[in-house]
Amino acid sequence: MAETLGFCEEMRPESCGLILFGATGDLAARKILPALFGLCEKNLIPKNFYMLLSGRTPLERSALESRLWTAMNNAGFTPAPETFGAFLGRLEYLQADYDSADFYRVLSARLDELDAKYGINKKRLFYLATPPAAFEPIVNMLKAGGLLADPLDCACWSRIIIEKPYGSSLETASSLDAGLKKAAAENQIYRIDHFTGKETVQNVLALRSANHVLDGTLNCRFVDHVEITVFEELGLEGRAGFFEKMGLARDMMSHILQLAAITAMDLPETFRDTDFKAQKKRFFESLRPYTRPEVAASVVRGQYAGYLAEPGVAPASAVETFMAFRFEVDNDRWLGVPFYVRAGKKAGKKQTSIDVVYKKPERGIFRHIDIGYPNVLSICIQPEEKVTVSLVSKHPGPKLCFAERGMSLDYRPDAREAPRYPTDYERLLIEAMSGDQTLFLSSLEMRLMWEFLAPLLEAWTEAPDENPLRVYAAGAPGPAQAEELLKKEGRSWV
Ligand SMILES: NC(=O)c1ccc[n+]([C@@H]2O[C@H](COP(=O)([O-])OP(=O)(O)OC[C@H]3O[C@@H](n4cnc5c(N)ncnc54)[C@H](OP(=O)(O)O)[C@@H]3O)[C@@H](O)[C@H]2O)c1
Repeated sequence: MAETLGFCEEMRPESCGLILFGATGDLAARKILPALFGLCEKNLIPKNFYMLLSGRTPLERSALESRLWTAMNNAGFTPAPETFGAFLGRLEYLQADYDSADFYRVLSARLDELDAKYGINKKRLFYLATPPAAFEPIVNMLKAGGLLADPLDCACWSRIIIEKPYGSSLETASSLDAGLKKAAAENQIYRIDHFTGKETVQNVLALRSANHVLDGTLNCRFVDHVEITVFEELGLEGRAGFFEKMGLARDMMSHILQLAAITAMDLPETFRDTDFKAQKKRFFESLRPYTRPEVAASVVRGQYAGYLAEPGVAPASAVETFMAFRFEVDNDRWLGVPFYVRAGKKAGKKQTSIDVVYKKPERGIFRHIDIGYPNVLSICIQPEEKVTVSLVSKHPGPKLCFAERGMSLDYRPDAREAPRYPTDYERLLIEAMSGDQTLFLSSLEMRLMWEFLAPLLEAWTEAPDENPLRVYAAGAPGPAQAEELLKKEGRSWV
């Protein structure tokens, strides 16, 4: 097993109760409940801990247990009976009517009983995995029902995890934010982007911070351009209702900008929430805003052939399933360096990666030889978790010939170790239970993200002729215009 250096202790979060709203939903079944089970199995839950699941569907205990068993199996767990039994022993289900004050009275009384049973002093993490339209009403009802503790009262706490999407435009996100802040303080609101919980994403910052050889070269002196790819092999997977309202840009922009930030932001002094967020904010503030002509020149939107025939999709839907765009970062570090992004569904493969392409040598013996881009730092986030650097080295033999060689850092060299480490949702749950907001998105960050996206969405709505929707074959890496975006600047995707 690889040896670790310092900071290796996994902190056990504070004793608390977790209340999951939307427990009968798809996300709960696929991600949240398996993450809760994973934390129990890995013994990463707080010392005193209970889970109260709620959904609108009435569920008998046996039906609940059978749902949970199926969810665990689908997530790849085949729990031993005693492990599953211990998990079930800590949870119960409460049918919800989220609009009714009565429900919150019943909830409050039950939470008091559970607190007493588990020896917890009103420390409660509410996880809102309901449709976004229910976020604000539920938080208001929690407040009205006396379920949100005063954040200044240190003896007890209430935190709220809000699922994505956080609004669908600058206006709706601002309105949601203002609404939530009437009932809860910023330090009680934990806005999720599960990408930030991924090990490999966090490793980018670790690699940059600990290795001068990397971070010292991440700037406009050495870097020619940066590419970010977020490809999905799958299409809608039954989520047409959600996707038709959102489209890819709204759905993915937060992930994309988080990847850009961890690659290109100035490093914080510490990984404490405030330092980290301050640097991320500076990075987001330096994203150059698009003008209307720049959207037409720098952004490609696409839709895969066959999308219109998917169940639940409007016959003439102009919703994008793909986008490619070029942006710049207006600061000294990245002056003149283009960032190219491509993201899409049915793009032929599942791939999330960041490629930093270094400049060609300008001086020395290579000046007149075309060796392409000799160095690319590739950070693969999924499906593989590895970092590679391509180098040009001398080919063995008498002549001075060159060959491309790679150096590779496999982030998980020992697959047997994998089950020991928290997954992205597990990590985020640990952080929220520990009261650490570093990996969650701030209100300001959300606003800056929507401000960046707003001119682009406006241009698509108001000037569709200048920003046509390009059709691409299912399984292809987007339309030809995505290639053109780089080609016209003498480049191509890695
Ligand atoms: N699914 C994903 O892959 C995914 C990924 C990222 C983010 N999210 C976000 O996670 C949240 C849940 O998504 P989901 O896919 O799990 O949705 P879903 O399958 O439709 O489940 C929604 C859950 O909320 C409850 N619910 C439905 N309508 C409600 C309403 N008007 N008020 C209160 N509760 C209501 C449902 O209860 P009953 O079924 O018992 O009626 C169910 O428990 C959404 O905000 C979504 O954007 C989902």
